[in-house]
Amino acid sequence: MTIKKLGLLKVTKIEKISDETPPDCRVPVKSYTLTIPEIAKIAEPGQFAMMWLLGVDEKPMGIARAIQKTGEIMFAVAKIGPATTAFHKLKKGDKIGIKGPYGKGFTIKGNKIGVIGGGTGIAPTKFLIERLVVMGLNITLFHGARSKDELAFRSYFEELMKEQKNFQYKPSTDDGTYGFKGFATECLEDAITSEAKYDQMYTCGPELMMFAVWKLATKQSIPVEACLADRYFKCAIGLCGQCTVDPVGLRLCIDGPVFDQDQLKEISDFGKFGRDKFGRKESL
Ligand SMILES: Cc1cc2nc3c(=O)[nH]c(=O)nc-3n(C[C@H](O)[C@H](O)[C@H](O)COP(=O)(O)OP(=O)(O)OC[C@H]3O[C@@H](n4cnc5c(N)ncnc54)[C@H](O)[C@@H]3O)c2cc1C
Ligand code: FES
Repeated sequence: MTIKKLGLLKVTKIEKISDETPPDCRVPVKSYTLTIPEIAKIAEPGQFAMMWLLGVDEKPMGIARAIQKTGEIMFAVAKIGPATTAFHKLKKGDKIGIKGPYGKGFTIKGNKIGVIGGGTGIAPTKFLIERLVVMGLNITLFHGARSKDELAFRSYFEELMKEQKNFQYKPSTDDGTYGFKGFATECLEDAITSEAKYDQMYTCGPELMMFAVWKLATKQSIPVEACLADRYFKCAIGLCGQCTVDPVGLRLCIDGPVFDQDQLKEISDFGKFGRDKFGRKESL
């Protein structure tokens, strides 16, 4: 197996930690900034890395930023269980291992682009937006969350919208505490029917959200790519079979996690079945 497939392992100090949601909200999110030029140089939006805390665990995390010039990379971690709780206890200057980058990222194409992100999927979505914005493309981000406090990176996207004329931010919340009241996919549907003709869409977030985006894109004949990161991964290098989807046997960690609309059509598990941490199939 080549180094490219195994990923680079770098142990480095955390340079900056920021709260990207209020720390006392239901699912707090923190961002971690590090300098790893070897990974920043080759990382693409949609790819992920394994975040390793010695003596605790290693977990897949989408890359939330990679700057080739400076070597800066960023991850954003939602506190949901034992490993992510341990990550949230880390302090600036603590050491952490990063292995990657892994998987296949988004293919950048189109001029008028709709991006739909939600949950922890906002991390790879943020990296994608940063790459698209500097290319001068016309981008709208539909960002969904249960409530205002869970819209991670909201202030960042609002500032970006003020600075960049080619970027529009459309937040939505299930409970109506901020932006559009309802799902991000409903906000997207409104935009498509009333004003916007996107020539490319990208999505990353809860799988049922991505499934709704894919159905809408298919109905409107708009090309779409989805990052299937809402699943358990273990080895990240195609060996353990934990991330396999039926019926074609694709391994999300190496064949994806990003797939286009034709590949998504082939995956009968998409939007229907996942696997628990023991690899058993279960309904979504
Ligand atoms: C490719 C990829 C990229 C990811 N990117 C990010 C990211 O940028 N930021 C981030 O915070 N998280 C991300 N995740 C999810 C992250 O890996 C899990 O949240 C983490 O493994 C949880 O570990 P834990 O020990 O804290 O909780 P666990 O005890 O493992 O899980 C707690 C709860 O979350 C559910 N869960 C755990 N992992 C997943 C998962 N992968 N998908 C859906 N439900 C899960 C479990 O069913 C359980 O209910 C990503 C996952 C993948 C596969
Ligand atoms: S996580 Fe092991 S094969 Fe994909």
